[in-house]
Amino acid sequence: MEQEPVDVAVIGAGIVGLGIAWTLLRSGRRVTLIDPAPAQGATFAAAGMLAPVSEYHYQEEDLLALTLESAELWEEFAAPFGPAGGHRTTPTLVVGFDAADRAALADLQAAQQAHGLEVQAVSLREARRMEPLLSPQLSGAFLTPGDHQVDPRMLHAAMLEAFRRGGGTVLAERADGLQWAADDDDGGSSADRVTGVLLASGGVVSAGEVVVANGLASPELRGLPEGLDLPIRPVHGDILRLRVPERLRPFLSATVRGSVRGIPVYLVPREDGTVVIGATQREDGQAGVSAGGVHQLLRDAQQLVPAVAELELEEITARARPGTPDNAPLLGRVAAAGGGEVAGLVIATGFFRHGVLLTPVAARAVLDLLDGHDDGRWAAFRPDRFSPGLLNEHTVEAHA
Ligand code: GLY
Repeated sequence: MEQEPVDVAVIGAGIVGLGIAWTLLRSGRRVTLIDPAPAQGATFAAAGMLAPVSEYHYQEEDLLALTLESAELWEEFAAPFGPAGGHRTTPTLVVGFDAADRAALADLQAAQQAHGLEVQAVSLREARRMEPLLSPQLSGAFLTPGDHQVDPRMLHAAMLEAFRRGGGTVLAERADGLQWAADDDDGGSSADRVTGVLLASGGVVSAGEVVVANGLASPELRGLPEGLDLPIRPVHGDILRLRVPERLRPFLSATVRGSVRGIPVYLVPREDGTVVIGATQREDGQAGVSAGGVHQLLRDAQQLVPAVAELELEEITARARPGTPDNAPLLGRVAAAGGGEVAGLVIATGFFRHGVLLTPVAARAVLDLLDGHDDGRWAAFRPDRFSPGLLNEHTVEAHA
């Protein structure tokens, strides 16, 4: 069935796709969001750490700039939803378990400080004063006050409702491919323009612009631009949700990120008395929960906070993050094989470990592109950077 033509069709209603759709709707555009199961992918699992500093990895400087910018945007982005958006400005405490963890954390802290990031040294005594349930046997700690958190499920629900109330359309359908302009009547070719989305049900959503934001499923779309390679792979994660009994509240006030014998683990306390413990990183292709992964999370979380053993285990989830070769998203327009850029198409996928954190900056970047205000600032994330056949003046600039 032919749907009403819109200004923008967004494929994928995870937190990134919805954040883009909501932002574009607020800019006055008519927007349709297409997803058979909104927020059932990586968004469903995500802990929602807004942690550019404590999640910094060596040699990811471009990504650091993007994550820092997005962290700055979070307060404004979440404001329309109030407490229902689940945004909290609680800090993050980074802790090490043994001497090797302490040494690794000291190296990380030095690298963070070299980038001018806000990191505060705290003694173990101070750390335990802040968080009395921390183990007395930790080896080191520091604080990243600007690393906050959001509850992705709460925010997604609030934003989806606001999107619908604001006149946005949500189609619970699977996008099958991109629709391209037919050749001009006078025989010329206008096939460098995407004009809509083909639905698996046979329908079409005609749109002035199409945003591809369906994470792991994006490389499977039919009709992606010629020569475009979207190298996205599933990086599975197991994650737990636990309830804190009344007698142990408040359990934690800050997010605790730890390294336990070199293995990362985090505990994110929610306002509703639950704690999220995550997350493994597996490339074993197993979509279901890994028994070893759950064991590892509970074991390591208890090394940091022994009272984890007394919590009620409410939920065990496994989902796949959309990973890319350089851990950075694929964001922007695509070079056309014949020169110039493909009109009517923006890619916003491959957000790997940072989908929630990067939602506001992705939404802002897409808005700027559609408004014609792109200043090339985020060119390092061009979606065609892994497509050698598309190297042209745009992609070469991006890698200069
Ligand atoms: N950003 C946290 C994770 O991917 O586990």
